[in-house]
Amino acid sequence: MNTDYDLSVIIPTFNEEENIAAIVEAVDDVLTASGLRGEILIVDDNSRDGTIGIAEGLAARKTNVRLIVRMHDHGLSQSVVDGFSHARSGIFQVIDADFSHPPELIPSFYEAIQRSNDVAIGSRYMKGGSIEAWPLKRRIISLGATAFGRALFPDITDPVSGFFAVRRSVVADAPLKPRGYKILMEVLGKGRWDSFVEIPFVFKDREEGESKLKPATILDYLKQCSDIAFFSLRHRNGAVWHEWKKIFSFGLVGISGILVNMGLLYLLTEYAGLYYLLSALIAIELSIMNNFFWNDVWTFKSPKNLRLERKLHRFASFQFVAIGGLLINLTVLYVLTEIAGVYYLLANLAGILIAFAWNYMVNRHYTWKS
Ligand code: GDD
Repeated sequence: MNTDYDLSVIIPTFNEEENIAAIVEAVDDVLTASGLRGEILIVDDNSRDGTIGIAEGLAARKTNVRLIVRMHDHGLSQSVVDGFSHARSGIFQVIDADFSHPPELIPSFYEAIQRSNDVAIGSRYMKGGSIEAWPLKRRIISLGATAFGRALFPDITDPVSGFFAVRRSVVADAPLKPRGYKILMEVLGKGRWDSFVEIPFVFKDREEGESKLKPATILDYLKQCSDIAFFSLRHRNGAVWHEWKKIFSFGLVGISGILVNMGLLYLLTEYAGLYYLLSALIAIELSIMNNFFWNDVWTFKSPKNLRLERKLHRFASFQFVAIGGLLINLTVLYVLTEIAGVYYLLANLAGILIAFAWNYMVNRHYTWKS
């Protein structure tokens, strides 16, 4: 590691002759204006246009610019990982060459890492972030990819962003298996990190050259998601593993709720002599209270000193979510049985699973949102 540099800006390129000079100048200007000593690494996949010639010229003129030309294992993620291994500083910033990502934000990423975040992520999907001039098809693909990514990293609004910064230590020993376009997912799934911050930005579609995203990239991405999920199961650490544990705990609490519900229904009807529908109402409410209690102390671990008002708010929210779940379960059961002709027990299983996903997601993101 070379402490002469505060950060290393990695720019992956493939056929970027229209953009390469301008982006390097822009990044360099931002670094100079903010007083940051940064090296700029152009990691090129043996472009067929004039990118290499222009980049060689830049590297010859500017002492902080280096060009790495890759001859094998073509790919955006692979190039970024190569960039990590050639980088000399302790903080790595990744940015596209085509001005989709605003270089002016680089100092904010740097400060975020300095402020003790391990990862800083440029987000298009948080307040203040957006996408300009994307065709509908591209938006839909991106939303799908982001939804998959968020299933693995629910706290991160844009886990597939190509604009991010990481500390060297996050990726130094990480068994990254780069492929496709979503290098950040690989870093988040396999790197060693505790804290992250997201920085909103406006993604501008390229004006020069064209996107290299291909259908095979989407398949690669799906493989990558399942690989990250299994990696987390094998290694039992990291953000994905913590999420699995929460889902599992939430499921166990749900099972305990079923037992409470059934037990009370039986006791109240058989021994207290209540009308069975009244017993059921009491049993349902007490099972909701049971589930709230265990999720509060175990699954989502509310702080002990939480104000009563806040706790009641959480309970009210949990209660409404549970009613929503019940309605979802009944609707799925009805629609699948009556309209699609599915066997009712199978239809109910689908209803339970969809209601479970609803209950988990809404409670995870709303009820227990700190
Ligand atoms: N070295 C190398 N090798 N660079 C590549 C390759 C490659 O195979 N393919 C693309 N690049 C470079 C481009 O030259 C550009 O600098 C950057 O990677 C982005 O390429 P685009 O093809 O324009 O990407 P995109 O706009 O489709 O995707 C961007 O947005 C996605 C979010 O929707 C990237 O930032 C993705 O990482 C990001 O997930």
